Amino acid sequence: MFSSDELCSLRWDPVSKGVEVIDQTFLPHALRWCRLDSLSAFCRAISTMQVRGAPLIGITAAFGLANAIAEDASSENLLNASAALLATRPTAVNLRWALDQITRAVQSLEPSQRALVALKKALALREEDIVKCERIGANGLQLLSALNKDRLNIMTHCNAGWLATVQWGTALAPIYKAHAEGMAVHVWVSETRPRNQGTNLTAWELHRAGVPFTIVTDNSCGQLIRQGNVDCVIVGSDRTAANGDVCNKVGTYLKALAARASDIPFYVALPESTIDRTCVSGEHITIEERNQSEVLSIGGLDIAGNYREVKLADAHSKAINPAFDVTPACLVASLITEHGNFDASEKGLQQLGAIGSDGH
Ligand code: MRU
Repeated sequence: MFSSDELCSLRWDPVSKGVEVIDQTFLPHALRWCRLDSLSAFCRAISTMQVRGAPLIGITAAFGLANAIAEDASSENLLNASAALLATRPTAVNLRWALDQITRAVQSLEPSQRALVALKKALALREEDIVKCERIGANGLQLLSALNKDRLNIMTHCNAGWLATVQWGTALAPIYKAHAEGMAVHVWVSETRPRNQGTNLTAWELHRAGVPFTIVTDNSCGQLIRQGNVDCVIVGSDRTAANGDVCNKVGTYLKALAARASDIPFYVALPESTIDRTCVSGEHITIEERNQSEVLSIGGLDIAGNYREVKLADAHSKAINPAFDVTPACLVASLITEHGNFDASEKGLQQLGAIGSDGH
């Protein structure tokens, strides 16, 4: 399904020598590509969530730093541009990982050599992301097959599909593999308030791939699980701590609790670059606090097809808007990675580290 370069979230045009991304703020109503050609455009794309999802944030930042180096290859600019990109969003650790990858590749070089090496490294990271996600899909497929169901009902949260990576996705990769193998799968897509990545992005992706799905409100997920309508839950991760605690889109924790109460597996799919070995447990992860306006109002198309934002609450209401939550490792049945499937524990992550290649 991903044999062509057309179906991807970020592309490099070798002719115009520029980066283009799908502007995800227009989905599902319009598919628009947006060109990123300055440090401020890259920073804006990440902070305003034109691109989002931990792996894609990392790849975008890598190209952003390569772009900044092409404009000014001095060590001072390398440091400043990296700091500006790092400040765009706080939770997904792939951002820091990708910036480190570019910095390590160029910092010992003469400034005149840096631009080409940085671009080559960004392009390599993009290609590697595709390979890693395809492997996550294959490894996750083994777990899905082992559930041995005639028809598999899988619940997911937020968007951890190809829009959140370059191609394939993390949590959706095993689902795409299962569908391609002819397995009967159906996906419960939780809407993911307040930004509705489930409704806006995951449903859009699944429809395009021909995978059967149903959108459900976030609040109905516990009941669906308790009633036996879900065989497993698969989500992605924005940062996984050294003890296996998983930070992902807010609402993930409640699904993990419901899955445990009904004794169904709760899987987390992630590339090794999402593991933060410097972080001992989920308690130490910085949770992004977003603007309350995302909770107090909502955007969509009106009957005439025009985009409108409407207020939900009265003017006196206040809200808080934490974008992520932490699921303790003990609720995670398995971490699905490009290197295989591992226990969500310090030991499991050490085993992964022993065969991993990301060097952190
Ligand atoms: O705020 P977002 O949309 O960037 O959050 C994305 C998620 O939480 C994803 O589930 C996570 O990044 C894993 S993506 C492969």
